Formats: sequence, C-alpha cells, structure tokens
Amino acid sequence: MSESTETPVKAGASSDRRGFMFKIGAGLMGVGGLLISAPILGYILAPSVIDWKKRRSWIDLGPLDDFPVGQTHLAIYKNPIHGPTVGLADQIPCWVRRTGTASFQIFYINCAHLGCPVHWFEESKLFMCPCHGGVYYEDGSRASGPPPRGLFEYDWQVVRNRLYVLGGEMPNLQIPGKLPKSEITPLMIDGEKYLDGKVVSTT
Ligand code: FES
Repeated sequence: MSESTETPVKAGASSDRRGFMFKIGAGLMGVGGLLISAPILGYILAPSVIDWKKRRSWIDLGPLDDFPVGQTHLAIYKNPIHGPTVGLADQIPCWVRRTGTASFQIFYINCAHLGCPVHWFEESKLFMCPCHGGVYYEDGSRASGPPPRGLFEYDWQVVRNRLYVLGGEMPNLQIPGKLPKSEITPLMIDGEKYLDGKVVSTT
C-alpha cells in the first residue's frame, strides 16, 4: 500500500527537478550566448551608436626635423582615449613617411587584415605583417597576402614647424582612417584654429 502512494510522488518530484535543471541549463546557455555575442554586436553597432569622430583629436608628434625627407620612421603618441587602468596600452605607434618638405603619409601600425602590427623594412621598402604574410608597398598600398586593402592612414597637418596627427578611435573596415576635410575638427593653438596647416579662424 505504502509503495503505491510513494511512486507517483517520487515521479512528480523527479519531473520537477528535471524541469528545474532544464530551466537552469537554458538560462546559462542564454547568458553564455549573450557574453559571446556582445563584442560582435558592439563591433557591428558601435560605429552607428557612438560618435567616433569626436573620439579623435590632434596630437603633436614633434618637430619636422625629427622626420627626414624620404624616410619612414616609427613615432609613438599617447592615445587621447584612455582610462586610468590602461597603463602602457595607450602608447600608440604609427609609421611616419615624409615624402617632401611639407608632405607626409602617416600609417596606422595595424595590418588591414586582422590588426597585427606591421614592420617597415628599409632595404626592401616594404611594410610586412608577421602574422599571415601581408605585404604593403612604401606608400601603404597592398602588395600581397590576405589584407583586403592598403594600410589605414591618419589625417595630419604641419603647424608652426611641428607635425600633428589626428589620433584616437582606431579605424576598421567600417571606420575610415582619413576623414573628409569637412568632418575634421580644427587644431586649436593659442586661440587660433588650424586646418591643413592654415589658420581658419581665431577666437
Ligand atoms: Fe596581417 Fe593577417 S594580420 S596578414
């Protein structure tokens, strides 16, 4: 008699437990899915949600004499987007190529394939990526390998005999390196605003 009354109760308890475990499992899978998809969604949606153009600003790279004509040199600047815990990660290297008295190309160091830092080889006049063999010519255009395009370039200007670069938000296939001139915020020095090395207004 006692067995016939206990069996349905046990079966019911076991079914409740299975249902409970199923809900826990489904919940954990949902949380895991969110954690995995958040960075991907952020990458896709960030350019349309964040005003990334405001996250770039002019940075002084130093006097023109530091960059001899016809040469390509590594320069390092402090990223204007940085938090208190970022440490040395805010030190951003870039490749500066001086092509004339007042003409430059400044390249993001990140390969246009998956972002590894590219190295400059003076002898062959090539930038090479150590990760998957991407190669770029000295003007940053793609030479070979998996990169889908040339190196991203910075906007720059020469003001008062110093080279300034528009650094900050990094480019990717959605965010360009160089901006249309109309979208560049001028550099402000001593109440004067500069674009393309010329004073555009004073305050
Ligand atoms: Fe440079 Fe892949 S990251 S070739």
